[in-house]
Amino acid sequence: MPTSETSRETLCILGCGGFIGSHLTRALLNSGRYDIIGLDIDDSKIPDCLQHPLLTFVNANIYDSTLLKKHITQCDTVISLVALCNPALYNTIPLQVINSNFIQPLELVKICAELKKRLIHFSTCEVYGKTVQGLAGDALKNPNAPGNYILKEDESPNILGPVSAQRWSYASAKELLERVIYAYGAEGTLNYTIIRPFNFIGPRMDFIPGVDEEGIPRVLACFMDALMFKKPLKLVDGGENRRCFTSIYDAVDAIIRIVRLPKHANNQIFNIGNPNNEISIAGLAKKMMEIFLRITPSKTEPLPEIVHVSSKEFYGEGYEDSDRRIPDISKAQNLLGWVPKISLDEALTDAIHSYLQFYL
Ligand code: NAD
Ligand code: UGA
Repeated sequence: MPTSETSRETLCILGCGGFIGSHLTRALLNSGRYDIIGLDIDDSKIPDCLQHPLLTFVNANIYDSTLLKKHITQCDTVISLVALCNPALYNTIPLQVINSNFIQPLELVKICAELKKRLIHFSTCEVYGKTVQGLAGDALKNPNAPGNYILKEDESPNILGPVSAQRWSYASAKELLERVIYAYGAEGTLNYTIIRPFNFIGPRMDFIPGVDEEGIPRVLACFMDALMFKKPLKLVDGGENRRCFTSIYDAVDAIIRIVRLPKHANNQIFNIGNPNNEISIAGLAKKMMEIFLRITPSKTEPLPEIVHVSSKEFYGEGYEDSDRRIPDISKAQNLLGWVPKISLDEALTDAIHSYLQFYL
C-alpha cells in the first residue's frame, strides 16, 4: 500500500462509465498519478478513455463476486459508484433498487474488509430523507428560515417516509449500507470514506428518453429533453421543492482530494454539495429556459411551456419527495480544503452547451 501522496497507487473504479464515474475517471487519468482498473457494463460515456495506457477497462457485471474479488485484489483503493439511482425506479422496481444499493454492495464491503482495501463509497444526500421542513409542515415553509435545513453528516437525523412510500427504498438501502460500513470502521476492520453527493449536474448526465435509453431520468435531463425536443417542462407537485445543484467539476475536485488524502478522509462521512446553488425546481425550469434562449439565439421557435403534473401521474404510486436539503460542508472544507466554486449559472450553461453539442 502506498504510504505517501507521491507514491503510485492502483484504483479500482466500479461504475467508471456512469455520470460521476466517467468524469472522475477522465480527471484521474489526466492527472497521470494512478493506475486504474475500471469496471462497468457500459462504456458509451468514456470512449476517449478506453485506449489510455493507465486504464484497464473491464466490461463486466460487478455482481459476479469472483471477478470482483480478482480485480479488487490488484488494487489499493476501491471507489464504488455502481447503483440504480434514478428516482423513477425507487417506487417502480424497489427490489432491484434495494439489491443494487444494499445487497450487492454488502458483498463488496465484506471483500474490502477481508482484503484490507480502502473503500470510498458513494451514498447519497437522500439518506437525510424528507428533511425538517417536510416534517414541521407550514410553520417552516419560509425558505429564508434559518438553520433548520443545514444538514450535518454526524448530527442531523435521517427521517424517511413510511414503508408503503417506496420512494424511500433507495435511501433506506443506502443508509443501511452506511451503517454496515461505519460498523466495520468502528471495529477497526475497514478504512472507508462515505460520500453523500448533493445533486451533481453536468455533461452527459443520465440519458435522453427515446434517444439513448427509455424511462425517466433525473431533472436536468428531463428538462434538457423538453428544451431540445420541444416538449413541455413538467413541474412535479408544483415544483416548490428545492435542491442544491453541484457542478460535477467541483464534485470531482472533492473526490480527488478524498482519494489523495486518506489520513484526513478515512473513516469519515462527507457531504459534497454546493449550499450556494439552492433553487426550487420551478426556479430551475425558468433558469434553464433563460440560459437555453441565451445560448441558442438563432432559434426562432418559441420555447416549450411549463406544465404541472402530480407525482402520482409522473412517477406512479408510492412517490414522496425531499422538500429541502442544504449541505453543511464545513467538514470537507476543514479536512480536505475543499470549497465548491462553480455557480449554478455556470454549471447549467456548461451542461446545456454540452447537451446541445452531443444530441443536436
Ligand atoms: P450512473 O447511473 O450514471 O452510474 C452508475 C454506473 O454503474 C453506470 O455506468 C452503470 O452502467 C453501472 N452499473 C450498473 N449496474 C452495474 C453492474 N451490475 N455492473 C457493472 N456496472 C454497473 O450514476 P451516477 O449519477 O454516476 O451515480 C454514481 C453513484 O453516486 C451512485 O451510487 C449514486 O447512488 C450516487 N449518487 C449520485 C448522485 C448524483 O448527483 N449523480 C447523487 C447522490 C448519489
Ligand atoms: C436524486 C436521486 O435520488 C439520486 O440521483 C441522488 O441520490 C440524489 O437525489 C442526488 O442527486 O443528490 P432527486 O433530488 O429527487 O433525487 O433528483 P431528481 O430526479 O433530479 O429530481 C429533483 C426534483 O425535480 C424532484 O422534486 C422531482 O420531483 C422534480 N422533477 C423531476 C420535476 O419537477 N420534473 C421533472 O421532469 C423531473
